[in-house]
Amino acid sequence: MQTLRTTSLWVRDNQLWILDQQALPQQQNWLPAHDVAQLVSHIHALRVRGAPLIGLSASLLLALLAGQGLSRQQLAESLEVLRASRPTAVNLMNNLDRMKLALAQSDFVAAMTQEAWRLVEEDKQLCEAIATAGSTLVKPGSKLLTHCNTGGLATAGVGTALGVIARAHQQGNVVNVWVDETRPLLQGGRLTAWELGELQVPYQLITDSMAASLMAAGEVDAVWVGADRIAANGDAANKIGTYSLAVLAHYHQIPFYVAAPQTTLDRHCPEGAAIPIEQRAASEVTGVSGSFGSVQWAPQNARVFNPAFDVTPAALISGWVLDSGVVTPEQVKAGIFQP
Ligand code: MRU
Repeated sequence: MQTLRTTSLWVRDNQLWILDQQALPQQQNWLPAHDVAQLVSHIHALRVRGAPLIGLSASLLLALLAGQGLSRQQLAESLEVLRASRPTAVNLMNNLDRMKLALAQSDFVAAMTQEAWRLVEEDKQLCEAIATAGSTLVKPGSKLLTHCNTGGLATAGVGTALGVIARAHQQGNVVNVWVDETRPLLQGGRLTAWELGELQVPYQLITDSMAASLMAAGEVDAVWVGADRIAANGDAANKIGTYSLAVLAHYHQIPFYVAAPQTTLDRHCPEGAAIPIEQRAASEVTGVSGSFGSVQWAPQNARVFNPAFDVTPAALISGWVLDSGVVTPEQVKAGIFQP
């Protein structure tokens, strides 16, 4: 099998390696994801994260395991274990459905290898198309706000919302990006800040609670976020805190855009209320941990509510920027996302 390298995935010597996104930006560690248990553990710990990347990592691992001689039955079981590793991101299910079709072929080793590689190449192209479509919406002199991390770390390509921002910056239209730190796991503070720094895009890091006053002060021209799943009525699940930003943007009459590839669309999910939301460990809220160490500030027995995602209703979204182009609220109301 050939070598493959994206910002955070690496296939070499017929094994999958992942860039540990929990250790970034202080450390750049490549960790083995050589079997299903390892990859599931990386997904749970968000060492591999971002809806598109999770689907691609699972697909590549299955292809590699097929090449290593796992039986059709073992691969089918592995596929179902991987499918259950992250409930909200539909890209995982969409990619695994394609891998399952490849597994049904008579030469399933070749078919799965070809399909996994194709998914990676497609994701790069989807990201490019999103950046092209989305950047047309960014006006000269824009001050943009983004949440979580939707860049090259979360995809095989330039990213989704962050890809749009980077492209618009290349076009000379972005003067500042407000980066929400994104509690509780700090994907904004750790990952988006790092990526924008690497791309030399001017940014300022803020805590999630600062967005409202920036909007009131006229410091935000548009909000750009990604999605883990878009329902048929346009409701979009994304990192917890996205919905609050959409409410704030609506109040301040600021455009709120969701950027995502076709693989994030779930035409069979009628509305946001039907999207499963992952609940996570209390320790993520009672303290914080990373390459910088671990701290706990809450009482040991504090009761905690920790949903990883929330749902933004379609009514608060100004545009869905897909690889196929910009989808308007009118088109969504007319049923463009319906099966
Ligand atoms: O839990 P995470 O860090 O994987 O959450 C990521 C997001 O919410 C992203 O916005 C989404 O997956 C899209 S990434 C292109």
